[in-house]
Amino acid sequence: MSEKNSILELMIRDHCKIEKLINELEENSKFNFESMKKSFYEFEWELEKHIFTEEKAIFTSYNPEDVSEGYKMLPELTKQHNFIIHTLNNWRDDVRKRRMIRDVYSFKEFIIKHKDFEEEKVYPKLDESLPEDEKRHIIVKINEIS
Ligand SMILES: [Fe+2]
Ligand SMILES: [Fe+2]
Repeated sequence: MSEKNSILELMIRDHCKIEKLINELEENSKFNFESMKKSFYEFEWELEKHIFTEEKAIFTSYNPEDVSEGYKMLPELTKQHNFIIHTLNNWRDDVRKRRMIRDVYSFKEFIIKHKDFEEEKVYPKLDESLPEDEKRHIIVKINEIS
């Protein structure tokens, strides 16, 4: 499957970008506030854009009746996304109050588990079960955002 018609390939590209940014944030959170702040805003921007894409362009765009197994994954994905958003909100608050961000490593582990789940279970399933025209429609939306 080429990148042109694979949701998985497109989302892996995003996941790599996010992983690189959280690695930078982890490093910079050990140094000084200003470099940490810069890294945080870059990371936050990409991650929120990514979750928006997943929730508004991908997961809402398919008919659960066609993808019964995929549909069962949605509550779990939403739960994990809520935890991610919650952590970003806390960190944003820290940055505003000029506090150093903590526990970047454990959040990184969570993010990696989450992306592995999507790459192994969610996206291959969607790529294989969505009708071609529906998939094209989703890919157009993904490309509009990222
Ligand atoms: Fe996600
Ligand atoms: Fe993702």
